[in-house]
Amino acid sequence: MNYRITSIPGDGIGPEIVTEAKKVLQKIGERYGHTFTFTDILMGGASIDVHGVPLTDEAIQTAKDADAVLMGSIGGNTVTSPWYRLAPDKRPEAGLLKIRKALGLFANLRPAMLYDELAAACPLKAEISRAGFDMMMLRELTGGLYFGERKTEMIDGKMTAVDTLTYNEDEIWRAAVKGFEIAMKRRKKVTSVDKANVLDSSRLWRKVVEEVAADYPEVTLEHMLVDNCAMQLVKNPAQFDVVLTENMFGDILSDEASMITGSLGMLPSASLNDTKFGLYEPSGGSAPDIAGKGIANPIATILSAAMMLRYSFDLDQEADAIEAAVKQTLKDGYRTIDIMPQDGNTDGVTQVGTAKMGDLICERIV
Ligand code: IPM
Ligand code: MG
Repeated sequence: MNYRITSIPGDGIGPEIVTEAKKVLQKIGERYGHTFTFTDILMGGASIDVHGVPLTDEAIQTAKDADAVLMGSIGGNTVTSPWYRLAPDKRPEAGLLKIRKALGLFANLRPAMLYDELAAACPLKAEISRAGFDMMMLRELTGGLYFGERKTEMIDGKMTAVDTLTYNEDEIWRAAVKGFEIAMKRRKKVTSVDKANVLDSSRLWRKVVEEVAADYPEVTLEHMLVDNCAMQLVKNPAQFDVVLTENMFGDILSDEASMITGSLGMLPSASLNDTKFGLYEPSGGSAPDIAGKGIANPIATILSAAMMLRYSFDLDQEADAIEAAVKQTLKDGYRTIDIMPQDGNTDGVTQVGTAKMGDLICERIV
């Protein structure tokens, strides 16, 4: 079968890591008899440089016409890059927010698990990491603070900035349903994270999540305040199965979850709407400081491609093959610089660059 993929190399390390994910998909195609056709679009700084805006309507249309979207990363150094002297709605990140909204991608799945092979890269104490963890963060992606009205104005002689955090019950409902559906296929536990001791939006979140939970009697629901969750992630990550939370909390907590896996370079993500369509991207950023050096970790992007096969194309066997190849590559001792052992003991470990890591994973696809 032929699958049409719109790819967004983007900025920073984006082009390097997307190249490796395409290479792996190509290998899957050869091995399992599929073709993947890629059409690149510009987004973020790469689009600003050519079109003056971070995402054009034509690019959105190209994405809509595909079966799925594969993305690298967007953005640059917020202090030194000229992109950040533009109005906020013209900056690279605005393109990402716009495509998520335009494609209706309200559910962002970010799985975080500890590979045995990376235990030495995990910054947690051994007695905590020994228990392992395997959680699915579900971040609501098209509502809340990142999409509310915002302005900066002079009030009573003082510059004053306002951002609005809005959720309606339908937005919460559909995200919660996804969370419970996923929990049913996992260990049947949902931890809903909010700040209900302070925020109205969180109190509504909690109420709607409880209503949805009534339809899933087999799933255990617990509520956790976001500050406590930040602490629990480093204290006892094994307790989490599905973590269900709103946009900003999910942005922050998913970076934290990725660090306890060893590196931001390990965490894939899928952003889904109500159909099979999705946008797949590593959770980490564009890492402008290491862009172009050939040292970025492509694994999060390669695992995002595996999520694409699983969630958009129903190619579970092929997705399993990628995940197994990644695991085997780690088992064979290959590491990009970000996941090298922290204790300095490099016995049996070989440091490799971006392209080599992609090749090694391809070789292990069976
Ligand atoms: C992410 C990123 C984006 C977000 C930025 C680049 C807008 O941090 O995907 O987590 O906050 O959603
Ligand atoms: Mg983020």
